[in-house]
Amino acid sequence: MALPFMTAEEAARLVKDGDVVGMGGFTPAGAPKDVPTAIANMAEALHAEGKPFKIGIYTGASTGDSCDGALARAHAISFRTPYQSNKDLRTELNNQQAHYYDMHLSELAQNLRYGFLPRPTVAIIEACQVTENGEIVPTAGVGIAPTIARMADRIIVELNAAMPETMRGMHDIYEPADPPVRREIPVYTPSDRIGTDCIKVNPKKIVAVVRTNRPNEVGKFTPIDEVTAKIGANVASFLEKELLEGRIPSSFLPIQSGVGNVANAVLGELGENKHIPPFEMYTEVIQDSVIGLMKEGRIKFASGCSLTIGADKLQDIIDHMDFFRDKIVLRPQEISNNPEVARRMGLITINTALEADIYGNINSTHVCGTKMMNGIGGSGDFTRNAYISIYTTPSTAKGGAISSIVPMVSHVDHSEHSVKVLITEHGIADLRGKSPVQRAQEIINNCVDPAYRPMMQEYLSKTKLAHTQHNLGLAFAMHEEFLKSGDMRNTKF
Ligand code: COA
Repeated sequence: MALPFMTAEEAARLVKDGDVVGMGGFTPAGAPKDVPTAIANMAEALHAEGKPFKIGIYTGASTGDSCDGALARAHAISFRTPYQSNKDLRTELNNQQAHYYDMHLSELAQNLRYGFLPRPTVAIIEACQVTENGEIVPTAGVGIAPTIARMADRIIVELNAAMPETMRGMHDIYEPADPPVRREIPVYTPSDRIGTDCIKVNPKKIVAVVRTNRPNEVGKFTPIDEVTAKIGANVASFLEKELLEGRIPSSFLPIQSGVGNVANAVLGELGENKHIPPFEMYTEVIQDSVIGLMKEGRIKFASGCSLTIGADKLQDIIDHMDFFRDKIVLRPQEISNNPEVARRMGLITINTALEADIYGNINSTHVCGTKMMNGIGGSGDFTRNAYISIYTTPSTAKGGAISSIVPMVSHVDHSEHSVKVLITEHGIADLRGKSPVQRAQEIINNCVDPAYRPMMQEYLSKTKLAHTQHNLGLAFAMHEEFLKSGDMRNTKF
């Protein structure tokens, strides 16, 4: 059967008002580009004629501006899950123009299969290769592509010439069976392969193949600065000590490292520390810093869900595929982020907090407790199941006007029960085995910016003796002060 080649505009017309669309790719590597933009343009034209057009959207994680941005600006999204990082979509969600369901990334594919969420009717998947017998080879990110391709009635493939067919062999496509017949996922080390090198679908479901030639839309990471370098050095010295004192095996353990600028810089610094032996990664996003460290032999292998790297780094991999092919594997997110695998393998997890509190609770998602930033992503998948879960954050944000450490987080994503270590540029708070009052002193003394330390002690002095000391009337005084004057330093308890 010949493949149905057509333009992005023609393919967009196969998507109808009310459809539930699943997109391939992940943060935003390998996410479709031309067809979502064409859908957004079609939505705008329909809206101008007074006709309704909105679709529900599932993705692996964030997508690029040509997908999330274009569809948000066209007001074409009815609901969206599980993670995003686009400015215009963020505005749309915070204005409740689209409903957003923030969920653990490892759970999305199985929740679709379990029928907990509306069934995807259309799948749009970027590929470097598609065959007439229904083999689809994803590009730089896998996400939920295998599950949406299997569940959707219609599959639209964006065949991206910028992503060469030589990428075939980088992926390990595997969907677990569902309970009650699920067995263990047989990944025991990061480099284990358990699936196929492509997604296999009924070729009759491929209703469109759109040729594109578009680079990944991964933004530039901010370079390592003094603060992130110090955080990285603190993470390295913490792990070095754990290694020396025998709490981490001498062969070391696989690292998971989170998304964003801070995580990228911290991993870069950690990799440079020669007291840490060359290591493997079992992670969700493979960010920029991994590629250089891999070339230097500091990272031996990286298993992830996506190559969330700049265009130059991706080109480097494409140009040196023979070097990278046996050092990288890209998996669906329910495998890369799988709690069972994370716990069994003993991952050292390093994620970034937007805000932490003096007892070790973490807010990864909500600015001042109300405005959605990106989403929880895979941070919960890893934190709760880690060998050691580490959170890093610069101690302040917005030039010091915000203390990233507050008396009580304004939203909880990861509780004190899951978070083992908090690290800022000022130092390390090892929370293991400590009571709330001990944790508070450890965090204030070691992690809080010196400008905010007296304020935290003053807060504690206004609380009554209890297991976890809080003054419920003052717990959010710093947030309220920031909302009022734009500077937490003006807070009076
Ligand atoms: N209150 C308000 N704003 C804050 C803040 C706080 N306590 N702390 C940081 N910010 C702001 C920064 O000023 C910056 O704003 P800007 O974009 O206007 O400059 C923004 O938040 C991002 O901060 P940055 O320091 O650049 O962090 P980052 O790129 O490393 O991202 C997270 C940090 C928390 C947003 C990001 O890691 C994330 O989305 N995490 C959740 C998902 C996750 O952890 N996934 C990992 C699983 S693999």
